[in-house]
Amino acid sequence: MAPRTVPVEVFDLVIFGGTGDLARRKILPALFKRFCAGQMPGESRLIGASRSDLSREAYLEIVRIALKEAGVVRGGPALEGFLDRIDYVPLDAEGDTGWQALGDKMVPGRVRAFYFSVGPNLFANLAANLKAHGLADEQARIVVEKPFGHDLETARTLNAVLTAHFDECQIYRIDHYLGKETVQNLMAVRFGNMLFEPLWNAQYIDHIQITVAETVGVGGRAAYYENAGAMRDMMQNHMMQLLCLIAMEPPAKFDPDAVRDEKLKVIRALDPVEPHHIVRGQYTAADGVPGYREDVDNERSKTESFIALKCHVSNWRWAGTPFYLRTGKRLKTRSSEITVVFKDAPHSIFGPDAGRHNNELTIQLQPNEGITLDVTIKEPGPGGMRLIDVPLDMSFAEALGPGADAPDAYERLILDVIRGNQTLFMRNDEVEAAWAWTDPIIRGWESRGDVPKPYDAFTTGPDGAVQMMRRDRREWRGIHP
Ligand code: BG6
Repeated sequence: MAPRTVPVEVFDLVIFGGTGDLARRKILPALFKRFCAGQMPGESRLIGASRSDLSREAYLEIVRIALKEAGVVRGGPALEGFLDRIDYVPLDAEGDTGWQALGDKMVPGRVRAFYFSVGPNLFANLAANLKAHGLADEQARIVVEKPFGHDLETARTLNAVLTAHFDECQIYRIDHYLGKETVQNLMAVRFGNMLFEPLWNAQYIDHIQITVAETVGVGGRAAYYENAGAMRDMMQNHMMQLLCLIAMEPPAKFDPDAVRDEKLKVIRALDPVEPHHIVRGQYTAADGVPGYREDVDNERSKTESFIALKCHVSNWRWAGTPFYLRTGKRLKTRSSEITVVFKDAPHSIFGPDAGRHNNELTIQLQPNEGITLDVTIKEPGPGGMRLIDVPLDMSFAEALGPGADAPDAYERLILDVIRGNQTLFMRNDEVEAAWAWTDPIIRGWESRGDVPKPYDAFTTGPDGAVQMMRRDRREWRGIHP
């Protein structure tokens, strides 16, 4: 299947933090790939900006190395063509230096996007300076990365700072999970098929599980992670977004506010989580890798690298159907999947010997995108009516062929910024509602002095998570050996 590209207008994109880690690992490679796909039309340009006093040539060398390290460079002419579009401005986010030079490079009337690929402590200065130097025209849009605040109060402050200079419709808060092809597929599967939606409620669904398991540890991000933990790093944003897409009502149309209104309703319908419905964990050394406390160099750390919890969406659709969410680092496999476990058939005509059988729909988000539906059939052969569950298995790679290579989340999201489409970005009220649900959980741990349970690296996490499920007579799926 040939990938289709939708044209975009000519644009100028400024990357603040243009020499930083995110720019080098994600933003520049994503833009290079879109350039190769013909989606940097006409005179579109990238302008790197950072405090380093570099020449344009020195910056181009940084870009060259970044593209090589990201493994996206496909040969000379494409690379040179891309580099021709790049410029650089040394700039002080907190002072006046460089802003005039940046302004001189921007073409009036053109779509202009400013990517804040810097720490959140600089957001306010950048927004104010853009305004003060006349760069925040009606074509301007700003892109901000997570962490969007550390709690509700800081998120509110950040929203206030940004909206003092830009309209909400000019602010693009990135949650890169929403840019993943398979995450968007959740909406296609639910709202593009007649098959699932009539059964998508508490009457037919026993429970839903969402697992995002990683094998990596905290890597070079110890300082950030120690201050965040799995709750702030993954649960408040990525896991919450997955939950929203699974639980939301069908929006009337696929447009930014219609989708985000429905997601917001899910977050606001979440009950507070009972402390005994949460299990926190922290990995310990195993298989030659250090433990979490060594990674962050804090032998008393109480930060969780794993969290599993059970929550309820209190509305008509979901009353009585629990959602189990689990995420962690240094787990056995890298695997993200959502499993919808349907209830048993109300009555078995095959008698007690046939056992209990139910349907399960599993949506595998990564690494191998696909959908599996477990269906109950007769076990082949003589000897009466014995039932077994077999998977109807669809790997997207096999079903759609090699041409269906999904673009990276950043490729899609950056182009959506240029198109002015906010559907896959978080609105201020969504972010605040997610913090309003998260904050009391974290405050509870702090006031109780809660310490996460240790688990060996490369296992499925602390035993308490398994026990939490067993108490409900259920089992986790999703972290396969
Ligand atoms: C980031 C988190 O937002 O998402 C990381 O800060 C995490 O800790 C990452 O590893 C996971 O993203 P992906 O795309 O690898 O699943």
